[in-house]
Amino acid sequence: MRRVATMRGLRMRGAVAARALAALAAAAMLSASPASAQDGDRAAIERGRQKFEYMCEPCHGAGIGDDGRAMLPGTDALRIKYRGTRPALLTERTDLTPEALRVFVRQGVFSMPPFRPTEITDEEIDEIAAYIRDAASRP
Ligand code: HEC
Repeated sequence: MRRVATMRGLRMRGAVAARALAALAAAAMLSASPASAQDGDRAAIERGRQKFEYMCEPCHGAGIGDDGRAMLPGTDALRIKYRGTRPALLTERTDLTPEALRVFVRQGVFSMPPFRPTEITDEEIDEIAAYIRDAASRP
């Protein structure tokens, strides 16, 4: 009888300790991971920005239009395609998931050429998607 009680006591103490440990672990993750995740995100976004400027912006930049017409082929084609229902600039689009971006970049679309993995890796496409998401979220 006494032994059972002791066992139960031990088990309960064990459960309390486990819960305390879990809470500690959760607290540790809360304080540790956001900072490092954000740092990782920022680095990925920065790499995405550089790749985008080099590989995409020559066609998808804001352009030099003098009458509201974007002179760059990507921006101009998307302006005509969506007629204002979506931004002509990729960096203002909030609907481009990494998956969608990968399809467009790998397959090309009309006058946009497809890009090979030797030109741009899947990871780089994801980073461009992260950059676009970040850029589009800024006013
Ligand atoms: C040689 C010019 C050129 C380059 C370089 C280029 N694009 Fe494009 N892109 C276009 C054109 C033109 C279109 C529009 C095709 C059409 O008429 O639908 C387009 C369309 C797209 C679309 C489709 C958007 C939509 O809603 O239909 C995506 C996404 C896109 N480009 C992403 C990229 C990314 C990312 C890069 C860089 C890796 C890139 N493009 C590089 C010319 C280019």
